[in-house]
Amino acid sequence: MNKIEVKKDIFWVGAVDWNVREFHGHTYSTKRGTTYNAYLILDEKIALVDTVYGPFAGELIQKIRDIVPPGKIDYIVANHVEIDHSGAMPEIMKLLPNAKVFCTAKCKEGLFRHYYQNWDFHVVKTGDKLSLGKRSLAFIEAPMIHWPDSMFTYCPEEELLLPNDAFGQHYATSERFDDEVDMCALMDEAQKYYANILIPLGSIILKKIEEIKNLNIPIKMIAPSHGIIWRKEPAKIINAYVSWAKNATKPRVVVVYETMWGATEKMAKNIVQGLTDSGIAVKLFDIAKSDRSEVVKEMLDAKGYVIGSSTHGNGMLTNIAGFLDFLKGLKPKNRIAAAFGSYGWAGGAVDSIEAILKETGIEIAQPSLSAKYVPDENEIRRCYEYGKEFAAKIK
Ligand code: FEO
Repeated sequence: MNKIEVKKDIFWVGAVDWNVREFHGHTYSTKRGTTYNAYLILDEKIALVDTVYGPFAGELIQKIRDIVPPGKIDYIVANHVEIDHSGAMPEIMKLLPNAKVFCTAKCKEGLFRHYYQNWDFHVVKTGDKLSLGKRSLAFIEAPMIHWPDSMFTYCPEEELLLPNDAFGQHYATSERFDDEVDMCALMDEAQKYYANILIPLGSIILKKIEEIKNLNIPIKMIAPSHGIIWRKEPAKIINAYVSWAKNATKPRVVVVYETMWGATEKMAKNIVQGLTDSGIAVKLFDIAKSDRSEVVKEMLDAKGYVIGSSTHGNGMLTNIAGFLDFLKGLKPKNRIAAAFGSYGWAGGAVDSIEAILKETGIEIAQPSLSAKYVPDENEIRRCYEYGKEFAAKIK
């Protein structure tokens, strides 16, 4: 098997998970699969940075065996405890029981609570270094990007950053580098990753990027633990993260709704027409039929959200309720929104939509719009105008 050399004597020994379609329980759809990236660094000492998800331990071990006998590994760097990166540790540690495991204090605690093994842990903090011989590894704690234990590892001699989840994408490919794949697909997956996992951590991410800039460490390559390695233009993904973390938006609107018998859908389509005729780019999703992770990806840089539901009981329908609850956890900032929907007798959907949007910290830009049973001609026209009014606030 061809060995994939990321830099001289630094090998990708990860695994491609072509068929995974859900991640983090059911919260994240991975329609393009994913990869679990691990890196083997050969020097006077041999280090393995991260492992892979447990079911892929055999692939990891075989890839290492093609390069060196696994027992020769001196050090394992565990950047993150989550099982997609540490799951293979029990298997690999059987082959190298004396290897030292370098990780943060929280990672040590987390690894123990997952595997109950007293491995030879060495707790590291930001600024600590580990010499491998000609090269070295420097550690940068990165708590809450995205778990308390998370850490980045940097090899100064290669100007190589190994940031684990950060800058990653769920993107299964036979290629390993950014200059080998379709850039639109790559950025699409990077955006989806950020939107579904990192939106609430924007201020922490900005501080970490600033801290790394202040360390004055040149970065020629970013090798995350999911997806594609950034070697052509690592600044591209760093700049995208800065923009997303600053909640920068475009004058775009995402309309998300759920409909019971089609009346709310009719309202949604006419609102979309009003927005479109005002020159605003719009995406429309019936959340009962849509992939929630993709909708959130579209919302990442959209300035406006228009949310609709038919009334059910005294509130909204269940799919849109679940979606808005997920959005509330993501806490997108610097957005405006409006609510609409049809009702039969008592109403209540638009009030419950507005309430959760306010809890999320999103400004309600205009009064909600309701229609009894099925909107008549005047109400259809009113939906169109409603879209135009919202468009004026987006521009
Ligand atoms: Fe936080 Fe890829 O695991």
